[in-house]
Amino acid sequence: MSGETMRAVVSRGHGGPKVLGTETVRKPQVRGRKLLVRVRAAGVNPIDWRVRRGVARPVTALKRQRIPGRDVAGEVVAVGDRVEGFDVGNRVYAMLEGVFGGYAEYAVVGEDAASPMPENLSFEQAAAVPLAALTAVQALRGALQDLPHDCDAAPGRRRVLINGASGGVGTFAVQLARIFGTEVTAVCSASGAGLAEELGAQHVIDYREEDFARNRGCYDVIFDVAGNRSFSACRRALRRGGIYVTTEPVPRNFLWHVLTFPGDNRKGRVVIVWPSGRDLLLLKSLFEAGRMRVVLDSVYPLEEAAAAHAHVETGHPRGKIVLSVGG
Ligand SMILES: NC(=O)c1ccc[n+]([C@@H]2O[C@H](COP(=O)([O-])OP(=O)(O)OC[C@H]3O[C@@H](n4cnc5c(N)ncnc54)[C@H](OP(=O)(O)O)[C@@H]3O)[C@@H](O)[C@H]2O)c1
Repeated sequence: MSGETMRAVVSRGHGGPKVLGTETVRKPQVRGRKLLVRVRAAGVNPIDWRVRRGVARPVTALKRQRIPGRDVAGEVVAVGDRVEGFDVGNRVYAMLEGVFGGYAEYAVVGEDAASPMPENLSFEQAAAVPLAALTAVQALRGALQDLPHDCDAAPGRRRVLINGASGGVGTFAVQLARIFGTEVTAVCSASGAGLAEELGAQHVIDYREEDFARNRGCYDVIFDVAGNRSFSACRRALRRGGIYVTTEPVPRNFLWHVLTFPGDNRKGRVVIVWPSGRDLLLLKSLFEAGRMRVVLDSVYPLEEAAAAHAHVETGHPRGKIVLSVGG
């Protein structure tokens, strides 16, 4: 392959996994505050298949070349003229700023979105982290900081429920909720219960056996990772002043984002993850201290991105799925 081209997975249209194919495309250039990263592994997230299916049309339809993927881990091979914090040869991980670009041999990463990789993680493990763990840290930190001082529980006795605890975001959320000093209830199917306990959950609810929303006044924060419930359905399961946070950015959920339910001070929120090198640096310290770990469901070669998408699209991975970018 010439130095000006690279292998990448390209979405040839909107539709099922079969629209994905591996092609030789132009290698990107960097300038300003951008890094060019030789990608060694790329994370696969549900947003990737949603965009592939056309959830962001017409914006994505305007893009000439659609290379899916928002998470990368690899080595810096070139830096823009205004980059100050990174050099060629650094091992980094990052969440890309747009919705495209990760499933390729090279990707452009904003300096502020990147962080040195945790030294004890492989490229595959590191690529599993950015979008999912950033979602978990930003959602939980935001909700715990927003709890009113006069809410029912003292800070050390706060209870957090994670709905969807054994998937990509959930496995990080359970660990982070414990690190933030809360008592954790994990909601998942029976086959994920052992994993949730290993990650630190003190209580596990099998959603096929029990509806957590019926547990009145129990939780300070409900993090609806699966995004299949609503503030209205979960409101009574919150303690006074409690907060429901969902990953599902639909209009009805945004309504509760700006309103507070009259009378009881319970709130609904929507998390929208943003790239943050600073938060990735915090996560790096937690991995290196042995306080967090990555749960990898499976690793596919880049050429098998379609199979990886079909797997994620089932909605039941155990932890994360990543693509290994050899060559
Ligand atoms: N707004 C944002 O910025 C943002 C950021 C990241 C992710 N998201 C969204 O968040 C969702 C989760 O992402 P993810 O990466 O964690 O997905 P994932 O890896 O596919 O995990 C989905 C999880 O949902 C669980 N689940 C499925 N049906 C369930 C049910 N009825 N009740 C409770 N849990 C159920 C699954 O557990 P079992 O296998 O045990 O059923 C699995 O653990 C996706 O929709 C994604 O698009 C949004």
